[in-house]
Amino acid sequence: MTKDFKEAFEKTKIAGGIASGALDEISKIIRPGISTDEIDKISYEYINDHKAFSAPLFYRGFPKSCCTSPNHVVCHGVPSNKILKSGDILNVDVTALKDGWHGDTSRMFKIGEVSIKAEKLIDVTYEAMMKAISIVKHGIFLGDIGSTIQKYVESEGCSVVQDFCGHGIGETFHKEPNVLHYGEKGTGEKIREGMIFTIEPMINLGNYETKTLNDGWTAVTKDKSLSAQFEHTIGVTKNGCEVFTKSNKID
Ligand code: MF3
Ligand code: CO
Ligand code: CO
Repeated sequence: MTKDFKEAFEKTKIAGGIASGALDEISKIIRPGISTDEIDKISYEYINDHKAFSAPLFYRGFPKSCCTSPNHVVCHGVPSNKILKSGDILNVDVTALKDGWHGDTSRMFKIGEVSIKAEKLIDVTYEAMMKAISIVKHGIFLGDIGSTIQKYVESEGCSVVQDFCGHGIGETFHKEPNVLHYGEKGTGEKIREGMIFTIEPMINLGNYETKTLNDGWTAVTKDKSLSAQFEHTIGVTKNGCEVFTKSNKID
């Protein structure tokens, strides 16, 4: 690795570790009866305590520190006084800005007992992200990532959201390239050593289509089917990639 990306990788790993630590903290307290505002508060405080900023807060007018997206919410759910109940599934998406660099990650949480269908959707979504991460290395194409996710997800009878994508990240929260979670092998930009971007597939049990609610943020499935998402921030190396948002608790 050249000296140039060494600093970017090191700083992203620190920011990513804080973001991931916030999710670990949330996993300790999440249960039926808690509100998404309480989750937002834990995320805000954990990141603040680590002398970092919550990048979503006031980002393009977003009012909270993290995104909380339950059940048929695809992404960008706004924390509120909504109380979680047993059977809900929830994506929490946190982004830490530390020392000028961003780390962006999200996970699914199961509230109490969830349906077998919900379990399956979560497993398929996690597997889709991990399969994509496993093929990333210098010289492959962005389309290889999309194609890997889409083939697997559709073979499991689920669908890939097309309205939102992964993104380059660094000193800027969202930058080029767009990392689509669907597409054709061998197409799109070539991935190069040193690139840092997110992979964050949103997967639906039903149709892939989404719509955004009147709050201007909350994206939901058009058919009201369940949706899940996981997100990691990664850095491309010659022979693979480094995951900067690994949990100390899970992989
Ligand atoms: N963290 C989200 C992502 O993965 C972006 C959230 S932007 C916000 O890219 F404004 F909705 F917070
Ligand atoms: Co992201
Ligand atoms: Co995110």
